Amino acid sequence: MRRLWSPERERVNCSHFEATMLRRVLMFFTLLLALQPSNAQPAPYAMRISCGARDDVHTPPTNTLWYKDFGYTGGIPVNATRTSFITPQLHTLRYFPLSEGPENCYNINTVPNGHYSVRIFFGLVNETNFDNEPLFDVSVEGTQIYSLRSGWSTNDEEAFLEAIVFLTDGSASLCFHSTGHGDPAILSLEMLQVDDSAYYFGPQWGQGIILRTDRRLSCGTEKAKFDADYSGDHWGGDRFWDSITTFVQSSDRSISTQNSIKKASISPNFYPEVLYQTALISTDNQPDLTYTMDVDPNRNYSIWLHFAEIDPSFTGGGQRVFDILINGDVAFHDVDIVSMSGDINSAIVLNKTVAVNGRSVTITMHPTKGGYAIINAIEIFEVIMAESKTLPDEVTALQTLKSALGLPLRFGWNGDPCVPQQHPWSGANCQFDRTSSKWVIDGLGLDNQGLRGFLPNDTSQLRHLQSINLSGNSIHGAIPSSLGTIASLESLDLSYNFFNRSIPESLGQLTSLRRLNLNSNSLSGRVPEALGGRLLHRASFNFTDNAGLCGIPGLPTCGPHLSAGAKIGIGLGLCVALLLIFTCLICWWKRRQNILRAQRIAARDAPYAKARTHFSRDVQMTRHHGQEHARTAAENGPSLLA
Ligand SMILES: *[C@@H]1O[C@H](CO)[C@@H](O)[C@H](O)[C@H]1NC(C)=O
Ligand SMILES: *[C@@H]1O[C@H](CO)[C@@H](O)[C@H](O)[C@H]1NC(C)=O
Ligand SMILES: *[C@@H]1O[C@H](CO)[C@@H](O)[C@H](O)[C@H]1NC(C)=O
Ligand SMILES: *[C@@H]1O[C@H](CO)[C@@H](O)[C@H](O)[C@H]1NC(C)=O
Ligand SMILES: *[C@@H]1O[C@H](CO)[C@@H](O)[C@H](O)[C@H]1NC(C)=O
Ligand SMILES: *[C@@H]1O[C@H](CO)[C@@H](O)[C@H](O)[C@H]1NC(C)=O
Ligand SMILES: *[C@@H]1O[C@H](CO)[C@@H](O)[C@H](O)[C@H]1NC(C)=O
Ligand SMILES: *[C@@H]1O[C@H](CO)[C@@H](O)[C@H](O)[C@H]1NC(C)=O
Repeated sequence: MRRLWSPERERVNCSHFEATMLRRVLMFFTLLLALQPSNAQPAPYAMRISCGARDDVHTPPTNTLWYKDFGYTGGIPVNATRTSFITPQLHTLRYFPLSEGPENCYNINTVPNGHYSVRIFFGLVNETNFDNEPLFDVSVEGTQIYSLRSGWSTNDEEAFLEAIVFLTDGSASLCFHSTGHGDPAILSLEMLQVDDSAYYFGPQWGQGIILRTDRRLSCGTEKAKFDADYSGDHWGGDRFWDSITTFVQSSDRSISTQNSIKKASISPNFYPEVLYQTALISTDNQPDLTYTMDVDPNRNYSIWLHFAEIDPSFTGGGQRVFDILINGDVAFHDVDIVSMSGDINSAIVLNKTVAVNGRSVTITMHPTKGGYAIINAIEIFEVIMAESKTLPDEVTALQTLKSALGLPLRFGWNGDPCVPQQHPWSGANCQFDRTSSKWVIDGLGLDNQGLRGFLPNDTSQLRHLQSINLSGNSIHGAIPSSLGTIASLESLDLSYNFFNRSIPESLGQLTSLRRLNLNSNSLSGRVPEALGGRLLHRASFNFTDNAGLCGIPGLPTCGPHLSAGAKIGIGLGLCVALLLIFTCLICWWKRRQNILRAQRIAARDAPYAKARTHFSRDVQMTRHHGQEHARTAAENGPSLLA
């Protein structure tokens, strides 16, 4: 390499042949360098999970890796019955009985932000008492994207659900919502990264949009296949292409070619080349080529149509021209595949997003020149507006509350509390906050739910709460003083629990509070004065049946109300008094000792005095004979002390 670049050598030794060689080698390296960026692009992120599996699984024929089950919020792993040949050969699934709550999820927290094809395969529980096919709703990132329809387990196309979605918070949340028709059962999950601008269809496209794949058809193909089988580009996301050999019997026929197709596998969608090597064409009977499918009404659909001129009887531009109508409206005028793609055997993709009011979509290729129409493949997506989520702080606070109160499993409380709107968490009332464009919690209704545990301090993070009802549970501990910071709180019902200690002074700050039920608890101490004052203003407060509340009308009066200063004063006074008493005691004892000592000295130095004492004692002894013993002891006392 260094030798080649040396200009000196070049000048001295360059023969014509060598110069050509040099140029070729240089060109080779330049080409390599030019290719480098696309080679250096990391492989798309791919995560596949075999639900219910205890070990990683590899499936034929592509030896695809499925990770063992993880990221689920609950549920039970069992053996699976696969409902379709399309379904990967996995033998386990995870199902979510209603006893574990109506909302269950897989939360995968290791997903890099990006654009993903998310696919979920369904299965049936392989047990005799599970013969019903479950019907349930599926949401991705809080947006409901699908409701399983009855009969799905006998319809190949409905064995799975796919959506193209932006993941923007480093995780993916896929949730399954019970609708009362059996337990949701999930066979596998796939998160396959696709190009950032895959399926760009216009200005509406972006992070606020989810495309649910309704169907993908490879026209004129005998066998349904995945991109993997077509050796498609990994950035395409391993799409499943169903086969269709006729739209309407005898009015069309399929053709195919072995020629390679130009412009097939290009950014951003990277379609497999094979897709364009087969097609359906119209015949003399009926020059229009018409495809009709059933859809849900009043939704928007994005329709992608694939063409390549592979019919050998058309060799140039201007020979085959047709209009494309969607539900009778012209979507594309004068489509000339060869002119638009630049060549025969060259791919072109047209997309159109339409609002559908009826129950079907009809796509018509209507020839205006050349007599026949052609189509190679069709993709149809439902365009779904992504939901706003709940304010993250409030989700965290509810999760803390869930564990602090020991919320029973049947509550679920998985996924997002407020969305999908069809499936909010039970006990949490939601409201859309226009300033933050997020959902917030404005009510907590968990009365009479057999809850134990305690009320966490973090409850105050639910700062949009207007009402809390935890009445009739077995909640212990203190009322967190942070509740006083929920300024919007109008109604607080903690009655019939085991709350103890005193009512926090901070509750007095709740100026909107109109209803406060703290009756039937173990509260004690003074009711905050501010609350007492509020009573006059038509507020409804109940403090009865507690351990010892006092201080407002209707309750006993408290002891004298002492300020902190007064308490300190009293304490100091007591200390001084104690000190005085102690000093006095010491003085008294010292004095007594001095007297005794003086007496002893006097006895030793002045025998008269002692004799006098003896005398007086003799006199006493004659008077009170019976108390002799006591008196002897009294006389011995001082000598013991000396
Ligand atoms: C699942 O199937 C395997 C054999 O395929 C069997 O050994 C196992 O016991 C089954 N498990 C359950 C829970 O039925
Ligand atoms: C159900 O599981 C058993 C093994 O546990 C298996 O032999 C059988 O084929 C399974 N049934 C279906 C329909 O997959
Ligand atoms: C889809 O169609 C729009 C115009 O309707 C166009 O701007 C866009 O590039 C097309 N997308 C692709 C991927 O071709
Ligand atoms: C369909 O798209 C239009 C804008 O293009 C939007 O106003 C309308 O709400 C969408 N309808 C549905 C059902 O999403
Ligand atoms: C309770 O929360 C408040 C703020 O919400 C905080 O200032 C206080 O320290 C917390 N107390 C405890 C005991 O965690
Ligand atoms: C709280 O719930 C209880 C019982 O379910 C009910 O009687 C009470 O009226 C509720 N409290 C408020 C403030 O609505
Ligand atoms: C309040 O209740 C809690 C939990 O039951 C207990 O640990 C605590 O000692 C009680 N406090 C008082 C002052 O009774
Ligand atoms: C207050 O609470 C007590 C005991 O918990 C109950 O008997 C009474 O009916 C309540 N008063 C009102 C006005 O609700």
